Amino acid sequence: MQKFTGLCKPAALALLPLCGALSFMPATAQTPPPAAPVVKYDLTYDIISPVYAKNGMVATEQELATKVGVDILKKGGNAIDAGVAVGFALAVVLPNAGNIGGGGFMMIHDAKTGKNVALDFREMAPQRATRNMYLDDKGNVVPGRSLYTHLAVGVPGTVAGLTHALSKYGTMKLSQVIQPAIELAEKGYPVSPSLALILAAEREHLGQWDSSKAIFFKDGRPLQAGEMLVQKDLAKSMRLIAKQGAKAFYDGAIAKKIVAEMDKHGGLITADDLKNYKVVERVPVTGNYRGYEVMSMPPPSSGGVHIIQMMNILERYPLKQYGADSAQTIHLMAETMKLAYADRSEYLGDPDFTKVPVKGLTSRAYADELAKKINPDRATPSSEIKPGQPQPYESDQTTHFSVADKDGNLVATTYTLNLNFGSGIVATGTGITLNNEMDDFSAKPGVPNAFGLVGGDANAVGPYKRPLSSMSPTFVLKDGKPFLVTGSPGGSRIITTTLQEILNVIDHDMNVAEATITPRIHHQWAPDQLRVEKGLSADTIKILQDKGQKVSVQPSMGRTQTIQIKPDGFYGFSDPRNPDGRTIGF
Ligand code: DON
Repeated sequence: MQKFTGLCKPAALALLPLCGALSFMPATAQTPPPAAPVVKYDLTYDIISPVYAKNGMVATEQELATKVGVDILKKGGNAIDAGVAVGFALAVVLPNAGNIGGGGFMMIHDAKTGKNVALDFREMAPQRATRNMYLDDKGNVVPGRSLYTHLAVGVPGTVAGLTHALSKYGTMKLSQVIQPAIELAEKGYPVSPSLALILAAEREHLGQWDSSKAIFFKDGRPLQAGEMLVQKDLAKSMRLIAKQGAKAFYDGAIAKKIVAEMDKHGGLITADDLKNYKVVERVPVTGNYRGYEVMSMPPPSSGGVHIIQMMNILERYPLKQYGADSAQTIHLMAETMKLAYADRSEYLGDPDFTKVPVKGLTSRAYADELAKKINPDRATPSSEIKPGQPQPYESDQTTHFSVADKDGNLVATTYTLNLNFGSGIVATGTGITLNNEMDDFSAKPGVPNAFGLVGGDANAVGPYKRPLSSMSPTFVLKDGKPFLVTGSPGGSRIITTTLQEILNVIDHDMNVAEATITPRIHHQWAPDQLRVEKGLSADTIKILQDKGQKVSVQPSMGRTQTIQIKPDGFYGFSDPRNPDGRTIGF
């Protein structure tokens, strides 16, 4: 891919002839004034360019939330202040995924200390949760029970996570960063066409509950594009949080309402469950890929472990030489993904309950062993792949946003209600939509969850346990300095989407916009199916099929929000797979 580096680059491609013309202007007889310092922009007008800014950047799935974050940066807040403000704002303006009734993970790079923190505010199973709670008398999974009932709801972690991040790593007051969200909820905003589509698709789930209909419906049907979504109760709940902090949610007026909602409808969450909820600061899982340091979310997410495991395998292949969307690169990625997801099904779970062999799975020696199983010319059927033997144990809806500030602080957050609008249940009187994260547990060994993922003992339901996740907020550092911050929603496809975003930049020399628009692929071992996005050529698909890959063309996978940090500034891009996403810098 040809890159134009130099003084004239920020001009659009069409202006390049003008740049050439200027450089051939005849010299005058006078001595020229001393040259002004030349700023060298590394803008590249390849196929598509990222957003550029000098002082800081925010990339989210909703423009209003991006603006909230940029405003905080402009007022002197750091990336964590902005990240927390965005987290609350998305709960209002991206109500299908942004949340305070769900949970997630935030990766923080603290520039002052150089410390990297993996903040775990994943939902937790209530104390009364039991291994077989989603099975009927005959031992079969009851359809929908782990998704659209009060039993689907895990104890939410978002409020604890965001307030913890702010008080430990931020500089502003909670009341300051939450204020824009309160105003957006209070005054309302027009529903976008994408949100209208999602509301229509979720009509049945939301429509079951008066508390949900009161907010998201008008005249007995879901709100349509252009109509105002006003969330007075949510504004009230957020005002309480602004005044009293997380206590309002876990041991105050909001907690009381959540428990009343559970009691009324056979849910399990108690006042004690809420009081006992804890944020956990974990050590990021790290690896090295072609000289770059990659760090991502450790268990209870499977994301970081498998991104690094896959990179360890893929590093031995000359992917750059094969090309980004060649059948050879895709085949090798697919074979690698199968091996990783087979291990996911066996070994990954909440590390506070199950020993997860993180070191073994991410070791180079194990990658060498796994790579021997890959035939570069033939697909190995999933039925012939079993979870491997890592070294012994050492003692559609989520959203991602990325923030980078001028001091080098980074925030990568992926948080979720699980599916669009989670359980569809708004806790009466709170305006808070509750998650259905309990479905991320393995309800029964071998029975797939909503993302077709299977699991066993390591991810069985248990009291106070956190369900296994795929969410992968990720940083890439180069020589200890921030290089890339990225992540994505997309259920089981989050891990492979994040992997490909990084490979496209490191291996294929793409800018972050190109890295994002390139068609993605995904294989998760079970089912034995290589999913590819529209856009891959017919002959590439044919070569893959000839190698034995079972190719299935899918509409779209993942929605990344990525910022690359270069010496001259920030280069960011919001995945156009969601037209509402927006990256803004200043
Ligand atoms: O934690 C997980 O892996 C899932 N609950 C994420 C769900 C998701 O990404 C849905 N979105 N598109």
